[in-house]
Amino acid sequence: MSALLDVKGLRTVFETRAGTVCAVDGVDVEVRRGECLGIVGESGSGKSVTFASVMGLVRSPGRIDAGEILFDGRDLRKLSQKELRAVRGRDIAMTMQDALTALNPALTVGVQLAEVLEAHDETLPRGRRARTRAIRERSAEILGLVGIPSPDSRLSQYPHEFSGGMRQRIMIAIALACRPKLLIADEPTTALDVTIQAQVLELISDIRAKLGMSVVLITHDLGVVAEHCDRVMVMYAGQVVEEGPTTEVIGSPSHPYTRGLLGSIPRLALRGQPIHPIEGQVPDLIDLPAQCRFYSRCADRTDACLTPIAVRQVGPHRKARCILAGEDTQ
Ligand SMILES: Nc1ncnc2c1ncn2[C@@H]1O[C@H](COP(=O)(O)OP(=O)(O)O)[C@@H](O)[C@H]1O
Ligand SMILES: [Mg+2]
Repeated sequence: MSALLDVKGLRTVFETRAGTVCAVDGVDVEVRRGECLGIVGESGSGKSVTFASVMGLVRSPGRIDAGEILFDGRDLRKLSQKELRAVRGRDIAMTMQDALTALNPALTVGVQLAEVLEAHDETLPRGRRARTRAIRERSAEILGLVGIPSPDSRLSQYPHEFSGGMRQRIMIAIALACRPKLLIADEPTTALDVTIQAQVLELISDIRAKLGMSVVLITHDLGVVAEHCDRVMVMYAGQVVEEGPTTEVIGSPSHPYTRGLLGSIPRLALRGQPIHPIEGQVPDLIDLPAQCRFYSRCADRTDACLTPIAVRQVGPHRKARCILAGEDTQ
């Protein structure tokens, strides 16, 4: 069966005074039906911008410069703003990195849920009273689904009356209100403590199984990917540097950057090996040289890495952008 989301050659740039920032540079993403795909990489690697592009949420000074975004066979880049709004919320929903700023502080949770249902739920009854009642019932049901106790009474509360973990749940509830085919969760647990983190991730996994939807889980934590994702895509400096089934990528990473990420996570690092963060920083995304983007930080670099590096096939289901990995596909 064809992929639910198939992004090809996406390039998203921001025009700044210092020059053109190429935040996403030739990214391909495939999300299959029912799978959980993890997107991992340090801060600034282009994870959020990639999926903001998919959602049609990139605003000036940013723009999508190239690429195709096929969702269920339709190219989202060719839709009008109105058509895209209909897809967003009904078919694809995204939860933002920061729940407190993404929720409207001036509206109760019930009103925010009602807005989504009003806009996208075509099964609501037409008559005014029946409709209001149905929206209320459905909203309470969704809050219950994301594990909010006594949902009925909490519909009339404002976002600030909830704890951080509960706010993340509410954002997930709003995203799920119309049973999207694809949920994009951008760092849903970064601001939360470890126990709440685990609960929110379990919740997303449960709901995925119940509703049969696909999930893209954006995180900078490979440990989270190891536990929750079928496949993983590693991003670095606006490009995909490695992708494949999670167990294979984590079991035997092909790209030095993936190895670096693994080595910096205590619970995933190989036993007996020292834990150390990757030295150096993500390069400036303005006027990048045409060499391997990881060059300055790579322990395995050679002069051969000073030319553009193509993606190489590593085994049947894996790819990596490193001359030391697999075989050249071009
Ligand atoms: N509005 C903007 N203006 C200029 N640069 C931006 C803007 N938004 C994002 N960027 C740049 O795009 C790059 C990728 O950002 P982002 O996708 O948010 O990274 P990640 O989510 O992986 O942490 C960063 O270098 C960031 O500075
Ligand atoms: Mg981000």
